[in-house]
Amino acid sequence: MSTNPQEFISNSTSDVETKKIGACIAKKIAILFEQGESLDSKGWTVVLNGTLGSGKTQFAQGFLAALGVEQEVVSPTFVLVIPYETRDLRVAHLDLYRIEHAEEVDDLGLDELVEDGCVLLIEWGEKFSFAIPPADLKVNLNITGNQNREIRIVASSPKGESLVEQLRLKNF
Ligand SMILES: Nc1ncnc2c1ncn2[C@@H]1O[C@H](COP(=O)(O)OP(=O)(O)OP(=O)(O)O)[C@@H](O)[C@H]1O
Ligand SMILES: [Mg+2]
Repeated sequence: MSTNPQEFISNSTSDVETKKIGACIAKKIAILFEQGESLDSKGWTVVLNGTLGSGKTQFAQGFLAALGVEQEVVSPTFVLVIPYETRDLRVAHLDLYRIEHAEEVDDLGLDELVEDGCVLLIEWGEKFSFAIPPADLKVNLNITGNQNREIRIVASSPKGESLVEQLRLKNF
């Protein structure tokens, strides 16, 4: 386990495991959101970082499945934003890979979505970190083998820290 209290590291050995980590985080965000732990009613910005094929979409699939989304979760590479209404949370899944100009990000109205309590899952968010709402959590996926991924979950806000703290307490 990492000694940095702001982060939690998990080594995934399959896409199923990566989905489980996504699911675990979704459930924890839903609980924190319901408890109003965030001290506000704002949503979350979760930035998914990692090269092509590192598992960002797999993570998002697990995240959404845990919230009861039954429809197929596809990569939002061409549509940019795919919204999901779930029982517990509103989620918007984004992929900024093909975006070239920050103005295109501004046009998406992401600040308003977070103000309204939406959870943003942003693939390739780091590319426009200056144009997206400040991250609460960063999920950094690193390819360490054919089926292996190091998943480093880093807190970037107080509520992100409370989530990482919970992950560290319960060694799942
Ligand atoms: N441990 C693992 N975790 C996640 N995916 C894995 C793992 N091992 C193998 N894979 C495979 O790696 C691929 C990950 O694809 P995925 O679409 O999630 O990547 P991505 O990071 O979203 O890529 P892109 O930047 O193109 O959107 C899938 O084919 C998946 O089956
Ligand atoms: Mg993807």
